[in-house]
Amino acid sequence: MAYYRQVGTVPGKRHTQHRAPDGSLYREELMGEEGFSSDSSLLYHRGVPSAITDSVVWDLPDQRRVPNHPLKPRHLRLHTLFDDDAKADAVTGRRLVLGNGDVRISYVVTGTDPSPHYCNAIGDECVYVESGTGTVETVFGVLPYRSGDYVIVPRATTHRWVPSEASRLYPVEAHSHIAPPKRYLSRYGQLLEHAPYCERDLRGPGEPLLVEGDHVEVLVKHRAAGSVVGSRVTYRTHPFDVVGWDGCLYPYTFNIEDYMPITGKVHQPPPVHQVFEGRGFVICNFLPRKVDYHPLAIPVPYYHSNVDSDEVMFYVAGDYEARKGSGIGIGSISLHPGGHAHGPQPAAIEASLGVEYFDESAVMVDTFAPLELGEGGLAAEDPEYAWSWAGVRG
Ligand SMILES: [Fe+2]
Repeated sequence: MAYYRQVGTVPGKRHTQHRAPDGSLYREELMGEEGFSSDSSLLYHRGVPSAITDSVVWDLPDQRRVPNHPLKPRHLRLHTLFDDDAKADAVTGRRLVLGNGDVRISYVVTGTDPSPHYCNAIGDECVYVESGTGTVETVFGVLPYRSGDYVIVPRATTHRWVPSEASRLYPVEAHSHIAPPKRYLSRYGQLLEHAPYCERDLRGPGEPLLVEGDHVEVLVKHRAAGSVVGSRVTYRTHPFDVVGWDGCLYPYTFNIEDYMPITGKVHQPPPVHQVFEGRGFVICNFLPRKVDYHPLAIPVPYYHSNVDSDEVMFYVAGDYEARKGSGIGIGSISLHPGGHAHGPQPAAIEASLGVEYFDESAVMVDTFAPLELGEGGLAAEDPEYAWSWAGVRG
């Protein structure tokens, strides 16, 4: 993300001496994407950032996936996955819902216990906060979070989640970086006038987070032999020891209230709702908005065949117009795979005529490779959804 930020103290010239009050040197670390050829930040540590004292296997939650075969649209009720008094943590409690080689989507309802310290070395994370408040502590500082936030955590950022209340989280884990769509950006990286949000809407850490401690465990998610695996790495000193940093790579939040929907005289296609992109997928959000104003407009979508993608909608608030009559409600996911034309349940088309405003909120992930079902997805499935357009099976 190419927006410069400085937090805490840094030396006037990069790669020069930066000393603590007692005269000792801080340790400079470059955290950079694509080797040394893309966005980066320089961090100044009190300890040695590479000093580890142990590494053992961390057994991840079940990562197995089952193909969508036979091919069906799916309805997954995520709210059935956790009890009301669930006390999962935001990292180890994640249940895999859907995934492929580019992205993994999971769901977790936390208690108020902090998560372990955690570092995803596979890709960036975009965690949508369905509900709840708290903070994410990171090596860059603290990010407060609230309902409707996307929390963007760059690959290899050590952090932990500290909910102040039970939180419903929808982590989208990429195997790549996650960024605003290129078409929203100037050739130098500034968000353009036609983009539905701008730099003012992105909230990064405001001050350093300094924690004393030694022999601190960090759960590292990484790849080995083509699989997603975990290691439990012990650091000699606490990783939250950065007195200052600057650069263009850091975690941030963006709230869906700050997304300004683009509307039209007739139905606008999903790309106008896009918020982020990663390799092999995009993230869009459908938000409360005035809808199509042609006198003969049909505000709900036309039927569409995803020739090159699988579409995942997560319904988070309001009343989703196109899905009326399908059994879908808040906390539901619909998966509409490539090879199956989908669109409104038939009664929703007539019901939408003349409507001027949709009170609906949904987060969409479109993937360009087929999605497979994780154990959470299989456990949450409503088996009747596939037949809801026909009204009958068989
Ligand atoms: Fe669709």
